[in-house]
Amino acid sequence: MRVILLGPPGAGKGTQAAAIVDRHSIPHLSTGDMLRSAVKLATPLGIEAKGYMDGGNLVPDDLIIRLVQDRVTEADCADGFLLDGFPRTIPQAEGLGSANVSIDHVVEIQVPEDEVVRRLGGRRVHPGSGRTYHVEFKPPREEGKDDETGEPLIQRDDDKEDVIRNRMKVYREQTSPLVDYYRAQAENSPLKFHVIDGVGEVDGIREQILAALG
Ligand code: AP5
Repeated sequence: MRVILLGPPGAGKGTQAAAIVDRHSIPHLSTGDMLRSAVKLATPLGIEAKGYMDGGNLVPDDLIIRLVQDRVTEADCADGFLLDGFPRTIPQAEGLGSANVSIDHVVEIQVPEDEVVRRLGGRRVHPGSGRTYHVEFKPPREEGKDDETGEPLIQRDDDKEDVIRNRMKVYREQTSPLVDYYRAQAENSPLKFHVIDGVGEVDGIREQILAALG
């Protein structure tokens, strides 16, 4: 079960990923989480990536392709994985192909831009686990604290309105061409392409995705 979750910032990829990896017992590979961890640890990758991420721009393809190619060859990925936030450009998708990584399902979660701004403006994150909340749509039991650990939640630096708008522009220009790329692949290979309406209750969207994956 090798799955790609595709969709604009705030589509709910991270939120829905949790249920998919749980159901199929596969690792969740979020390039955003990997990069944020590298920034926190101030590794050479993190130092280089930080400026791009703070502005809502994509980290250069060569850096991210190597990171993912290495990660998907680790032992825990032998029976599959869920890619969340990768690929984001056509060269990144081609990087998977050139490493002989075949994909079984691509799930595109569609959400309009004004909804994205509302969601990301209210998002709060538990930095240790990546668990995600929303001040209005999915509040934690105690305000500002993670449900499981009680540790403080934070607001991501790139969840400010001007940065969110740039992330949407980057998505339209650089990532959305992947929709046609994978639709075309689905016509000529066993890959399955699913479109999911990402507006509505989190639980209902989760059920649609799990049903599509079988
Ligand atoms: P990344 O962390 O991947 O950010 P993103 O794709 O912009 O996605 P988000 O994490 O913002 O949104 P999401 O779809 O996961 O939504 P979520 O579930 O949290 O990337 C960050 C940066 O890293 C990039 O800008 C780039 O610089 C760099 N980067 C990462 N990967 C890269 C790559 N491959 N190449 C180059 N650079 C890369 O939900 C959002 C909010 O909405 C939450 O508060 C949630 O509770 C709420 N919500 C979710 N579902 C619903 C619902 N149905 N109704 C109401 N609210 C909901």
